Amino acid sequence: MTQKAPTAAPPSVIVIFGAGGDLTKRKLIPAICNLKKQGLLAEQFAIVAVLHRQVSSEEFRGYLKKELPEVWDEHNPETWAEMEKRIYTSCLDFENVEGYGELKSLLTEIDNGQNTEGNYLFYLATPPRFFGRIAANLNAVGLSHEANADQWRRLIIEKPFGHDLASARELNQVLHENFAEHQIYRIDHYLGKETVQNILAYRFANSTVEPIWNHNYIDHVQITVAESVGVENRASYYEHSGCLRDMVPNHLLAVLSIIAMEPPNSFNANALRDEQTKVLRAIQPLSPEDVLKQTVRGQYGPGKQANREVDGYREEVDIDPESKTETFVAMKLMIDSWRWAGVPFYIRTGKRMPGRYTEVVIQYKHAPSAMFHKSTQSLRQEDLPANMLVIRLQPNEGIDMIFNAKEPGPSMKLGSVIMDFHYKDYFGSDPTTGYETLIYDCMKGDATLFKRADNIEVGWEIVAPILDVWGALPTRDFPNYAAGEWGPTAADELLERDGRKWKDCGTFCET
Ligand code: BG6
Repeated sequence: MTQKAPTAAPPSVIVIFGAGGDLTKRKLIPAICNLKKQGLLAEQFAIVAVLHRQVSSEEFRGYLKKELPEVWDEHNPETWAEMEKRIYTSCLDFENVEGYGELKSLLTEIDNGQNTEGNYLFYLATPPRFFGRIAANLNAVGLSHEANADQWRRLIIEKPFGHDLASARELNQVLHENFAEHQIYRIDHYLGKETVQNILAYRFANSTVEPIWNHNYIDHVQITVAESVGVENRASYYEHSGCLRDMVPNHLLAVLSIIAMEPPNSFNANALRDEQTKVLRAIQPLSPEDVLKQTVRGQYGPGKQANREVDGYREEVDIDPESKTETFVAMKLMIDSWRWAGVPFYIRTGKRMPGRYTEVVIQYKHAPSAMFHKSTQSLRQEDLPANMLVIRLQPNEGIDMIFNAKEPGPSMKLGSVIMDFHYKDYFGSDPTTGYETLIYDCMKGDATLFKRADNIEVGWEIVAPILDVWGALPTRDFPNYAAGEWGPTAADELLERDGRKWKDCGTFCET
């Protein structure tokens, strides 16, 4: 089968607001370099780093070179020489419209020198409080205006998109006053992960998957995003946000929507995002009683990870010693649709878990016939392990199918076996930051992997009742799990009450 090779993106300037921060050096510049290496950037290309303080282009190039030695080494010096001379700086106060005129003049100068045709990608890598102001200031000086059908001006914003439903709506409104929805690209970096995109391929490019992807065959679904790291150096953000806001309305619901959505009628941005939003809207709203019964929150105390003593959340730098912020969340969600009637989706995510595992488990129903218990002593039909599909999003990316087979020998003895697919066996393991596809897609004008305004708002609608009940009833039992454990016991009980169990992450997948 021949497939079209991707072509270079159109000429453009990437304008990074907040370019002095972590995201730019850890993800954005390496991703842009990888695109360059793969020939996916136009020759007519430039980067403008927008910074708070006065830093010359020379100084900024030197800073990048010092901070990213491995990135610079990986590429040949000629490519670098080419890249370097296309990096400029602009210094302005993000909130003050005055400096934006100068930015506009700089962009016009670059357009004239580098033939970038007035196409600008504004990447807001700033704290969220600046998003609305920057959009308004860009619009005020005419930088959001697309002069003709061939010219584009786009805005990428990073999460968090608001702090709750009301602030998300407010942010969407301010953005819409200054940019049209087709110009706004909201990043959820989970959608940039190859393995998340592969769920689409697995479901919709194979004829054997969809016919059994429903309540007739599937007993329940588990989605786990376990992190081994603690709060790191993000105390001020995390204390304010907590695990629920940080992970659920965005990353976990993005994965859930791709698992649960109906097949879109094309691989087109709006077709795909319509289906994602539709399935999220079908999630049964949680009543206050449901919140008490179907959700669990936790906070890690001191514990052991990989034989190392680690502090509890309340002992971490800059965290309130009596903090009530949750670092773990689990919940059961039901989807009101023909396909998913009666199939619970259990989701959990937390910090300081025993390891870093992002997995989706599709647990199928038991085989209907009881024929084997007659030939195998002591085996009851319900003891036969059900088939399980494990989609490993990270690490050790791949898919396992677990099914029953006859063990060799004279009797009909059955055991679980695994068919496993590892990404790296087929496709190698080219290191990517996860941002390459997203930046490239934005330059090409493909919003498929970005969130639309309605998708963001429905995510907040789903968690709103949880935020309300948790806010009204502060916990008394924090910390309630030790670092290095799989969250509080209530998370296990959530499934046990339904006669189910979390799958142990990381099992069945050792290479
Ligand atoms: C971020 C959250 O959006 O996602 C972090 O703010 C979290 O708290 C991170 O650690 C997880 O992303 P990944 O790609 O490491 O799973």
